Amino acid sequence: MRKEDHQGKVSKVSASEIEEAIDDSYLDTTFFQKAGESENVHFSSVIKEIEGEDEKTYLVKIRPPLFFLHGLLSNISRALSGIKNTKIMDNEEWLKREVEHFKELYPEMSADYVQHDNAFLMEKIDGEVAKKVLCSSDIEPSKKSEVICEMADALKLLHEKGKYHGEPNTSNCIIDEEGEVYWIDFETQYDESLTDLEKRARDLEQLLLSVLVSFREEGEIGMEDNEIIEIIFDEYGDEDVLSLIKEDTSFPLVGPHRIFQFSSDSLIRFYQAQWNIMDYLGNNWNIDLEGNWDFEFEEVFDLSS
Ligand SMILES: Nc1ncnc2c1ncn2[C@@H]1O[C@H](COP(=O)(O)OP(=O)(O)O)[C@@H](O)[C@H]1O
Ligand SMILES: [Mg+2]
Repeated sequence: MRKEDHQGKVSKVSASEIEEAIDDSYLDTTFFQKAGESENVHFSSVIKEIEGEDEKTYLVKIRPPLFFLHGLLSNISRALSGIKNTKIMDNEEWLKREVEHFKELYPEMSADYVQHDNAFLMEKIDGEVAKKVLCSSDIEPSKKSEVICEMADALKLLHEKGKYHGEPNTSNCIIDEEGEVYWIDFETQYDESLTDLEKRARDLEQLLLSVLVSFREEGEIGMEDNEIIEIIFDEYGDEDVLSLIKEDTSFPLVGPHRIFQFSSDSLIRFYQAQWNIMDYLGNNWNIDLEGNWDFEFEEVFDLSS
């Protein structure tokens, strides 16, 4: 990497340390990553920490060559899955989107490209990943429901800024000590053919499912799934998005291969949560099996005749 690539942008991190982190990750691949080796098994990138000269911690996010294979598999899996119309971008597009979103949403934090090596350098957000907060047995249920509201609220703010996330799950969200929510990881994009409203609706659906499956059992935080869905809908509040979800949702039966995307630990819970979302939405049972076949549940299982 050449020094001038990042000089004057994130100046508190030395060029040689960035270079070292990138070199270190070059042959990394999650195919060989054992469960438990890392707290967050993520499939599309490698993240290395670097201490800055200003005593802040910085992260360099890299997509090493072997990860193109992950990206390809992930896109195949997306194509098969009920989460339609999303794709992982190529390195250049990914970097542009990720850096642009991070800078615009968090102008007080440093972030930049390391153009030459296709890496993303950003300040580390001091906090916990939402999934960890929601799963923690040390955190009060009332605090968890506040966190859920804040997540919905932050997603709404993002949408109001004319942005969408692409993969708003509980691993792509960080909660700091003051309860402030930061959405991260903008490397998935929706199909251009979707309208902005549709993109927002797809985001909100993903948030709903990901929050529900953070709990191994329904009722774990003293609220049934329908109550959690209700507070997310209430907090998000945009009637146009809500009615689109009610009319046309991608659930249920999102393929089991997407379980990681939603950061779920249990397949049974994964389907139960989808079922509960459909149940909440009530009258509309457009089963979109694996994203390929649209048919009316009532037509197939018409018990009235
Ligand atoms: N700016 C950041 N501050 C703190 N933690 C971060 C930051 N960016 C990423 N992380 C951590 O690294 C994990 C993986 O990063 P992410 O950008 O989601 O990569 P991936 O695309 O591989 O999922 C996140 O779940 C989070 O725990
Ligand atoms: Mg992620």
